[in-house]
Amino acid sequence: MEKLKDKVIIITGAADGLGLATALEAVKNGAVLSLIDLNEASLIQAKELILKKYPESKLLTISGDVGDLATSVRYTEETMKAFGRIDGLYNNAGIIGGTTPIDEFDPEAFNKTVNINLNGVFYGLKSVIPIMKKQQYGRIVNAASVGGLRGVLNSAAYVATKHAVVGLTKTSAAEVASSGVTVNAIAPGAIKTSMMRGFFEQTNPENPQQAENEFAKNNPTKRLGLPEEVAKLVVFLLSEDCSYVNGQVIAIDGGQSNTYLM
Ligand SMILES: NC(=O)c1ccc[n+]([C@@H]2O[C@H](COP(=O)([O-])OP(=O)(O)OC[C@H]3O[C@@H](n4cnc5c(N)ncnc54)[C@H](O)[C@@H]3O)[C@@H](O)[C@H]2O)c1
Repeated sequence: MEKLKDKVIIITGAADGLGLATALEAVKNGAVLSLIDLNEASLIQAKELILKKYPESKLLTISGDVGDLATSVRYTEETMKAFGRIDGLYNNAGIIGGTTPIDEFDPEAFNKTVNINLNGVFYGLKSVIPIMKKQQYGRIVNAASVGGLRGVLNSAAYVATKHAVVGLTKTSAAEVASSGVTVNAIAPGAIKTSMMRGFFEQTNPENPQQAENEFAKNNPTKRLGLPEEVAKLVVFLLSEDCSYVNGQVIAIDGGQSNTYLM
């Protein structure tokens, strides 16, 4: 069964990683997509990849920076113009934003991370919610992280923004629930994407694979997650089936955040 048959879904940060995996899973489930990314060249490649796999799919691509309110205004307007409604938003674009101790953290890098990871999510909510309220239907998924539930060494900006996304999720969920709109967040652990590759390269520049192996050892599953596994969760949260799950932050991390290692 196609879980997103004819649903119009906006995905930010759609050119790579979790955004692209979700775009593929959403198209497989019948969705019509509006894909947003800062990196125009990757976005074109992503579009080609999706069309090669699913030639019948309906896609709109828009390049822009989610840290700019004008981008969310633009993707909302262009999606409405092209498809006439917005059923789902995956507020996914985000960056690591630096891996140094807090007393050495570059304030500019901190602000940039806040702008993309937090303000970008706020701008998406602010732009899309009025349309969903009018439709009396909508599904929003925000990208938090296990770093939105726990402290993570040397990741002050990332962790602060992801905790803030959790707060935005709970508050907006309560505000829109009576209009048939749900807002949830996902909290992935380490998932094999370019972002995590970059993280392991920064953690251990000489041997990133060793950093990855060390990380995996501490996970009950002894492995990292796959983007396709996250995509399946997001597609459920974007579907009609997700009618009474609201304001939740769902960890997808192999059980790691609930485990105390002895
Ligand atoms: N991969 C993980 O292990 C993991 C874990 C927890 C949370 N997350 C979160 O999931 C989301 C996606 O992560 P990923 O691993 O797929 O990252 P990624 O780096 O693989 O892909 C991110 C995509 O977002 C785009 N992007 C970056 N900044 C942007 C901006 N300002 N405006 C528009 N697009 C922008 C990039 O060009 C890229 O295509 C992020 O919010 C991240 O914090 C990822």
